[in-house]
Amino acid sequence: MLTTKYPANLKQEEIIAWVKQTAEFCQPNEIYWCDGSEEEYNQMCQKLVDKGTFIKLNEQKRPNSYACFSDPSDVARVEDKTFICSLRKEDAGPTNNWVAPKQMKATLQGLFNGCMKGRTLYVIPFSMGPVGSPLSRIGIEITDSEYVVVNMKIMTRMGSKIWDVLGTTGDFVKCLHTVGAPLQEGQQDVKWPCNPTVKYIVHFPEERSIISYGSGYGGNALLGKKCLALRIASSMGREEGWLAEHMLILGAKSPQGEKTYIAAAFPSACGKTNFAMLIPPQEMGDWEITTVGDDIAWIHPDEKGDLYAINPESGYFGVAPGTNFKTNPNAMATIAKNTIFTNVGITPDGDVWWEGMSKEVPEGLIDWTGKLYDPQSGKPAAHANARFTTPASQCPSIDSEWENPKGVMISAFIFGGRRSTTIPLVYQAFNWNFGVYLASTMGSEMTAAAFGEIGKVRRDPFAMLPFCGYHVADYFNHWLQFGRNLQRPPRIFGVNWFRKSADGKFLWNGFGDNMRVLKWVIDRIKGRASAWESAIGWMPLYEDIDWNGYEFSKEDFEKINNIDNEAWKTELLAHEELFEKMYDKLPKEYIAMRELLLSGLWRSPEKLGLAGEVG
Ligand code: OXD
Ligand code: MN
Repeated sequence: MLTTKYPANLKQEEIIAWVKQTAEFCQPNEIYWCDGSEEEYNQMCQKLVDKGTFIKLNEQKRPNSYACFSDPSDVARVEDKTFICSLRKEDAGPTNNWVAPKQMKATLQGLFNGCMKGRTLYVIPFSMGPVGSPLSRIGIEITDSEYVVVNMKIMTRMGSKIWDVLGTTGDFVKCLHTVGAPLQEGQQDVKWPCNPTVKYIVHFPEERSIISYGSGYGGNALLGKKCLALRIASSMGREEGWLAEHMLILGAKSPQGEKTYIAAAFPSACGKTNFAMLIPPQEMGDWEITTVGDDIAWIHPDEKGDLYAINPESGYFGVAPGTNFKTNPNAMATIAKNTIFTNVGITPDGDVWWEGMSKEVPEGLIDWTGKLYDPQSGKPAAHANARFTTPASQCPSIDSEWENPKGVMISAFIFGGRRSTTIPLVYQAFNWNFGVYLASTMGSEMTAAAFGEIGKVRRDPFAMLPFCGYHVADYFNHWLQFGRNLQRPPRIFGVNWFRKSADGKFLWNGFGDNMRVLKWVIDRIKGRASAWESAIGWMPLYEDIDWNGYEFSKEDFEKINNIDNEAWKTELLAHEELFEKMYDKLPKEYIAMRELLLSGLWRSPEKLGLAGEVG
């Protein structure tokens, strides 16, 4: 029987009993209660260096930073092994994997018995959101991974102070994680322990608990992020009247000093972090973009019916490849120190490198598999899903209000996917309901074979497909009802940075130039910008966009922002494929809205006599 010294300010017997029980079952060598201190972080990193998991990077080039390589079987979230085990199958819905909780628990019991042998059981108390904010939620993660402990230290507010917040009665989400790699007596550990063949990421929404087995990577293992802050929190939000969303939050300060906060949802790998940290083109004047969050937003109505959002995280777990001083200078500055890099390349002088960081591939690079990199191999040096874990507080564009316990007031929502055709650069939904429809039917063309046929549109409602913790049609209804309760529902916009010309070239620069779209969005919210009423919503004419410093012709604008009636008919009819999966619970409004959109497709700038205006 393991003995352990409990934190003096831990007051809940239930937590002590849970840790004890878990330790008895998982049989770790010892129990360690994390206090969240810097010393602890440093000691833990040193332990990872001693084990060979972490490589300390060059202190001059990348102070207090580490790199590591995961097992090749453990490089990304495992959507096919992610389950929402609600009591009733119909509460998980058609987009989630489901197994009856009893059956899943029996499977997990078999796996967890003795799963921490030879390892330490760590108890991580953490807050998602500023400590003590009424909008924040508490989690406790039990894990046998030091990598998880140090990543959670960056990604969440973690440590002893959480026991005070919990007091004797505070609620928390139980998060249990193991890498699923017990060590036999005398067995040498590997650098990246995980279970190469068995992985389960399981959510019990009614119990508000999470159990994760077999993976040590990212969202599979850092349970505060996707598991708690999206899947469990979305289900909490439905019950409690708020929203947990896969959204960045940015602030935009105009040259006149007016500040507007916007939340935006994009599927994974659509440049969310870049958008959240955008640097506006100088030619547009003194605009400033500030970052509240890059991935998740928790959004609550206040007593006046306005919406306030917090970023529940305190760090960025960003995709490294493609990040450079041009695409995202703020991210590059953020990761200059105190950062953990996973699955990037390592230069001979102890710094990091990935595809897209520079044109030249450094000589003598070690690739993410730990071998000398051969640029002729045709393979990338960094894994496509290589990540940095870095403190948000280091971001030069961090918003002054990012830790405000009340959150920031949201004035608009933006939804965008990766679409090479059909979807225009920007349009504004007619009203909240049409905006919810727009977000429900958004999609991205698949770029990785893992999700199906490359190029085919994968519908990703609200960019929440892998993250909605309950029936997705109940989620649509929650959004519709939520809007009905608001005094001033934020305006909703659709964007598409990825439209291509007929010869397959991207039409839009993206990155900093996305500020031009953002400015129109802000001007619309404030009632300053004009727009024409298209069949699908309100749209800018060429003249409505600030082109200072960007040579973008009327002709190209027509290509990127036009509504091709035939393509839109196909698009709207294709929504049926999504709807039929959830017909029993689909909001009745959706069929009506689709019909209305279809019936408006006769409208075009030409027919409205605007042809001369749009070129
Ligand atoms: C992420 C994702 O890691 O959305 O943020 O996949
Ligand atoms: Mn994400």
